[in-house]
Amino acid sequence: MSDDIDQEAFRKFEHDGWNSLSGGYHDHWECLTPQIIPRLLQETGIGDGSQVLDVASGPGYAAGAAAAMGAAATGIDLAENMRDLAAKNFPDVSFQLGDAEDLPFDKGSFDVVTMNFGVLHFPDADKALAEAFRVLKSGGRLGFTAWDGPEGSALGMASDAILQEGTVRVDLPKGTPIFRFADHAECAAVLGGIGFRDTASTDIMLTWQLPRPDALMESFRQATARMSALLGAQDPAKLPAIKAAMTEACRPFDNGTTTDLPMPAVLTVGKKP
Ligand SMILES: C[S@@+](CC[C@H](N)C(=O)[O-])C[C@H]1O[C@@H](n2cnc3c(N)ncnc32)[C@H](O)[C@@H]1O
Repeated sequence: MSDDIDQEAFRKFEHDGWNSLSGGYHDHWECLTPQIIPRLLQETGIGDGSQVLDVASGPGYAAGAAAAMGAAATGIDLAENMRDLAAKNFPDVSFQLGDAEDLPFDKGSFDVVTMNFGVLHFPDADKALAEAFRVLKSGGRLGFTAWDGPEGSALGMASDAILQEGTVRVDLPKGTPIFRFADHAECAAVLGGIGFRDTASTDIMLTWQLPRPDALMESFRQATARMSALLGAQDPAKLPAIKAAMTEACRPFDNGTTTDLPMPAVLTVGKKP
């Protein structure tokens, strides 16, 4: 854990951000984060009857997919509106409110714990991963995903445009460095330190399909806590130039029908002995 993270400020920032952006996230990111879920479920060995906990379940994509494979899936998320959206999307799955760092389950409750693009949003990611270890049964598996980049990623394209035309020096609560869990060695060290064995990280390329090159800024602004706050903190007079810079960066990926942006990701798994 980084000592200079104000944990309560960051937790509130994440809670409030995702609570207000749940609908926008589902509208703009449903085409993106579920792409990796088949690999996540496969690598963690989910099957018929598996007891699965999906942490930071958001709109419920991973828990819903696990349930469709016959698993007994539970989702948990910090934001009430995300929990409600997930329950609406997947009425047959149980979704609860809760914090990844303090899971309301007994030790040894689950065969599999998944976290699909959740780990970057916890004030103390190491503590959340240790909580996953605690609630897993012996022989159970954790699988989590995180973004890679910034090179060759739409995340890097957006950040570069803000750096070029605006500023990243804004007063927002500091959180986990966004590309911390893109580093395979860091993932192995963190999981190994907790007690996980057989850890492995795999690079997987996802594609964020936007309708047009000029859609990138609004797709971030209406849907993601950190990027939305960063854009909201810019001088409004600079937003047109930031948008134009993002649009220019997106043009090479436009095929006349859609704009297909690269979003490289990393999937990491580990087993509780
Ligand atoms: C990027 S979304 C990922 C959603 C979903 N897993 C997916 O596949 O798209 C991050 C989610 O983490 C949740 N979150 C943030 N901090 C959390 C915490 N401390 N405990 C549990 N969930 C948290 C947010 O409310 C949000 O739903």
